[in-house]
Amino acid sequence: MVKKKACIFISGSGTNLRSIIKNTRDYNFPINIKLIISNKKNAKGIGYAKKYSIPYKIISNKKQEFEQSAIKYVNSKKIELICLAGFMRILSKNFIRNYKGKILNIHPSLLPKFKGLDTFRRVLKSKEKFTGCTVHFVDEKLDNGKIVLKKRISIDKSFNEKKLKRNVQVEEYKAYSEAIRKIYRSS
Ligand code: GAR
Repeated sequence: MVKKKACIFISGSGTNLRSIIKNTRDYNFPINIKLIISNKKNAKGIGYAKKYSIPYKIISNKKQEFEQSAIKYVNSKKIELICLAGFMRILSKNFIRNYKGKILNIHPSLLPKFKGLDTFRRVLKSKEKFTGCTVHFVDEKLDNGKIVLKKRISIDKSFNEKKLKRNVQVEEYKAYSEAIRKIYRSS
């Protein structure tokens, strides 16, 4: 099996990155992570790049510089899939058009509900009975592209934001890799 070359974009703790890295050890997993890009120099997730000896780049968060450099690195490694994993900046329309159908994102809600930031707080406030996470292709609108899969959890009355986040993220770790397997199974 020829694995696709992937790049993971992160901004923070990188726990989704960690779960994808673990899955790439499976012989049948369809991608290899060739590059990790962080727009934050102190992102904890960079530690996983180091730990697993995966090439990484930290790129200035200034919009123009970030995208120009990211495009250069992504193209030089012939990346076929970009996975946004807790990547907390909005990519330009131009960038997204450049990699149309090749960018995935994970969002901590059942899209189209609760697009945008501060998701867990808003979900709790809304008194929903269920929430979850969604893996989707990125298009030019925020948290909007074609959905690959969702995973659902029930919200217990006792949940605070921290507990909700922990429960949703357990599902995220399964969802991202399942979505990656799914898109290459059906292509
Ligand atoms: C994840 O819960 C992800 O769904 C969320 O950030 C967290 C990153 O955690 N992403 C968004 O809110 C994007 N709008 P991680 O860095 O530990 O993977």
